[in-house]
Parts: sequence; structure tokens; C-alpha cells
Amino acid sequence: MQKVSKFLPVSVPGADEETIEEVVNVLKSGWLATGPLTRRFEEDLSKYFEGRTAMCFTSATVGLQAALSAIGIKAGDEVITTSFTFAATANVIAASGARPVFVDTDENTFNIDPNGIAAACTSKTKAIMPVHYAGLPVDLDPIYEIAKQKNLRVIEDAAHAFGAVYKNRKIGTFGDIQVFSFHPIKNMTSGEGGCVVSDSEAEQKTMSLLRFHGIDRSIWDRFSKNGNSSYDVVYPGLKSNMSDIQSAIGIHQLQKVEAFNEERRRLAARYRRAFAELEEDLFLQGIPDYDFVHSGHLFPVCLRDASGRDDFLDYLKENSVGAVPYYTPLHLFTYYRETFGYKKGDFPKAEYIGARVACLPLYCGLKDEEQDYVIHIVGQFFDKRRR
Ligand SMILES: Cc1ncc(COP(=O)(O)O)c(C=O)c1O
Repeated sequence: MQKVSKFLPVSVPGADEETIEEVVNVLKSGWLATGPLTRRFEEDLSKYFEGRTAMCFTSATVGLQAALSAIGIKAGDEVITTSFTFAATANVIAASGARPVFVDTDENTFNIDPNGIAAACTSKTKAIMPVHYAGLPVDLDPIYEIAKQKNLRVIEDAAHAFGAVYKNRKIGTFGDIQVFSFHPIKNMTSGEGGCVVSDSEAEQKTMSLLRFHGIDRSIWDRFSKNGNSSYDVVYPGLKSNMSDIQSAIGIHQLQKVEAFNEERRRLAARYRRAFAELEEDLFLQGIPDYDFVHSGHLFPVCLRDASGRDDFLDYLKENSVGAVPYYTPLHLFTYYRETFGYKKGDFPKAEYIGARVACLPLYCGLKDEEQDYVIHIVGQFFDKRRR
């Protein structure tokens, strides 16, 4: 098969003409900061999440941080999460002064193993933060059951899960708090950005103060024609409000996200069919026995022989295919070892998957013939290795 003419990265954000036009209109409008478009984006998101409140931030990371503050997480508390995730998940817990308490990974779903959560709870545990890894919904029912029994809050790190469905309910339409990412690699983007979906008005008020200098009135309410320019500072808030430029992108992406996800799932199914032939070399994220719809955010493959993983990544790159080892379990990183005393061997299943995983290109706009090329290169790597 002929080499592709361009590098195929893990993800490429889509930008259609309508979005480009809307961004140009914002630039011409004289109002770039948080304003009417961000208000509209939040309303559209709220409709998508069946009436729950959606608040936009400049990233999911600051959204997670605001959510932790809003539920009162502080130094000395413990928050249960997974080690097999991106740094942001546990960094925000550590930054709040709390201890991230990791629970090992389910080797089938690559998500946190709900069966390990109860044993990890102590008198200091205040919250559980599961991650819907790659877009496969975590088994939420047992997690919410433990939270109910032990009076804990749940913040779902739903950075990968926009549009995913758990037991016929869209992630974000039920439960406690969900945080989504609109980073350009994600299923829908606003350039950078994220949103927090929640129900408590008191907690939303705290998040809104955290998001904008602790000021009790929005910038649009103060600067617009009929606005009132006076304000009070009631909290030492920082700044993580989404701009109208970002919201202009987000509004259009939201209208298309279901179609984007369909396409991602179609491509993921093509990978699955092709890799059924490589069962001796690879294993894939499993299919849980509960009802779900995957968001199709990432397509992770795991090499049965961990010793070949780095060569695999290099081989793909040499052949113009981007693949990323998402993720190295967090407990293996210096900060988590030195600060919390975690060490190799603590979470063997997370380590097993982390040492073998590579995520392949998956995005709308990846052409079938390009994906066939990725599949070909993956197969060629194992053929050469066997020789
Ligand atoms: C699991 C997970 N949580 C949180 C984040 C943070 O998202 P953001 O880049 O929007 O801050 C990411 C980003 O990749 C992620 O993968």
C-alpha cells in the first residue's frame, strides 16, 4: 500500500464555513469577551443536557477545579479517582490540597473498577471522581450507590464523554456534577474550553465567583448599553471565563456533535473489524455488559507484548501515523510518587494497560482510505516483528 501524502495525527478539529463566518462576525462585532454568545452557548448546552445548568470555562481543568471548590473540597480531604487518566484529573484534586486516592483499573473497560471503591473510602473521603476513559461510560450505578451510602459527592470527569450514553441516559443529563472538555482534540471544541453541568444554585454561584474575580455581576451586565457598571468583590476569584470567540465555535460544534460522534463510531467499528484478525497481537477496550453508547473519542489498542509498544509508536510515526500512549498511570509520575508515596506495583492493572496502550487516529475527516492505511501499517508492524 502506498504511503499517505500527509501525517495522520491522533485527532484533527473540524472547522466548517459556518463556524469560520461566525468567528469573523464576532471579531467584527466589537465584543470579544464573555457576552451574548457565551450566554447562548450555555443555553444551548443546557438544552442538550435536558435543562440542567451548564457553565462554560476556559478548560475542563479549571471547570474540575471550580467544581471541587464548590463542593467544599479542602486540605486534608480525600477524593477517589483512577490513575489511568490524564494529569488534569488528579492534579486538580492535589491542587485543592486534598489527596487523590487511586483505585485500580477494570482490565476490560479500562475505567475505574467500581468494586475497588468502597475499600478505598476512609473518614476523610469526600468525593469520587470517575473518568469515562476514551468515551466509554463508567459503570455509574454502583458508584452512585456507594456515594449515597457514604454520603459522598460525585464529579464525573466527562472530558472524553460528550454524547456518550449510559443505560439510555446521556452523560450529563443525570447524576451529580459532570465536567466536559472542549479542547481541540475532543469530540467537539470551542478552541479551548470546557463546561460544568450541575444542579445546585449555591454551588453554581460559587463557581461563577471563582470564574470571574469574585465579582458578583457579569462583565456583559456591566459594560452593555443597559448595564450597571458598579460591582462588588465578594470572593478572591481568579479568571477562567469563556470568550465569545470560543463560544461562537462551540455553538456550531454543538449543532454537529451528534453527527461527529456517529462518524467517530463508524470509524471505530471499522478498526474493530480490522483488528479482530490481530487478536494474538492486540487487545481492545472491552464491551461492558451494561447498555451504553461510546462517544468514540479515542481508539486505544493494547499490545499483548508490552516490550514492543515504544517500537510500535516509533514505527507508526516513521510511517506518518500519529499514535499516543494515553495514558501513563499517574501514580508512576514523580509528583505523585514524591508527594503521596505511590510506587510501581500499587495499581497493577492500570500499569498493565498503561504499558501497552496506544491510541490511533480517530476524527471526523479521517478518510476510509487513510484509515485503511493506518490498519495496514499496524498489521505490517506485527508481520515484521514475527519475522
Ligand atoms: C480525562 C481528562 N480530564 C480532563 C482533561 C482536561 O481538559 P482540558 O484540556 O479542557 O482542561 C483532559 C484533557 O485532555 C482529559 O483527557
